[in-house]
Amino acid sequence: MSEPKDGVDSVRPLQWQDGALRVLDQRKLPDQVVYEEFAGASGVAEAIASMRVRGAPAIGIAAAYGVVLAARDRYAANPDAWKDDIAEDFGILAASRPTAVNLFWALDRMREAIASIAGDPTPALLAVARAIHEDDIRANRRMGELGAELLAGSTGLLTHCNTGSLATGGYGTALGVIRTAWAMERPAVFAGETRPWLQGARLTVWELEQDGIPATLIADSAAAWLMKAGKVQWVLVGADRIAANGDTANKIGTYSLAVNARHHGVKFMVVAPTSTIDWKTPSGDSIEIEQRSKTELLGSHFLREGSVIDAWNPVFDVTPAGLIDAIVTEAGVVRNPSQGGMQALRR
Ligand code: MRU
Repeated sequence: MSEPKDGVDSVRPLQWQDGALRVLDQRKLPDQVVYEEFAGASGVAEAIASMRVRGAPAIGIAAAYGVVLAARDRYAANPDAWKDDIAEDFGILAASRPTAVNLFWALDRMREAIASIAGDPTPALLAVARAIHEDDIRANRRMGELGAELLAGSTGLLTHCNTGSLATGGYGTALGVIRTAWAMERPAVFAGETRPWLQGARLTVWELEQDGIPATLIADSAAAWLMKAGKVQWVLVGADRIAANGDTANKIGTYSLAVNARHHGVKFMVVAPTSTIDWKTPSGDSIEIEQRSKTELLGSHFLREGSVIDAWNPVFDVTPAGLIDAIVTEAGVVRNPSQGGMQALRR
């Protein structure tokens, strides 16, 4: 695996070691740094569903390694019918989370690879999973360069959720751009808490601390006031799925940031690899938005039997392309994205 870059990139959440996938348990951060080992596909699916591993690219990479584990087990159990038997594992992995398209993209790539394999599938599939992992890190570094060019002269940046090494193979998407920009011009970095799961407050600031990048945490509800105070010129976010017209699904709260940014004349950048673009989805209207348990919002007082208080917990929202100033991918930058402009990224 591509080695962490000195100084600004030291975290690797997914590691293939001794025939198993090691996953940094993101539920335990920042208090504990604990890696768990998974040796089967259902364990990997559970690690994704329970958010031990999270973030669109990281979910896709984990699923690819999950297919390697599934193929190894299925081939050992039944070398003649493993290609049929593994369909069940694909189903379990695909059902782990609905919104991030990288999951389905990675599964498709593994499915294509399986079609041409004869004999023991493990070495060939492991090579594909490793390539997906490596390519992601390479794409992130390229997006870092492209995105940082747009930020030249900025003195303050705001980001949402966690889009860093923890959410990817390494380096990060929006946080990768921030790493690159910080190495060049030392802008002030602001991170929103990202309620209710606190990806910003628990993961982003932890990750930045690991790499010695100073950051200021804000309550999500302080973002408009931060913009009003003139402290940021850009908001940078990642994406879980970008529709063919540039509409972007990302962590809940992203849409509010985009609306606020437009009101205050602050620029809005989405940073995502092309594996996050879903060309089959014409607009954000048809993106499935994951709803998670009300226990993520309600305390035990309201969870008791007989309480009349419920909770609504969509964990993603869709930002219309019209509120986005630039989509940065490893294949290039689309400014003021629209159906037509997005086509330049199609290969
Ligand atoms: O629910 P999560 O933590 O998996 O959501 C993550 C996000 O919304 C990220 O912004 C997105 O996946 C991009 S990560 C590079």
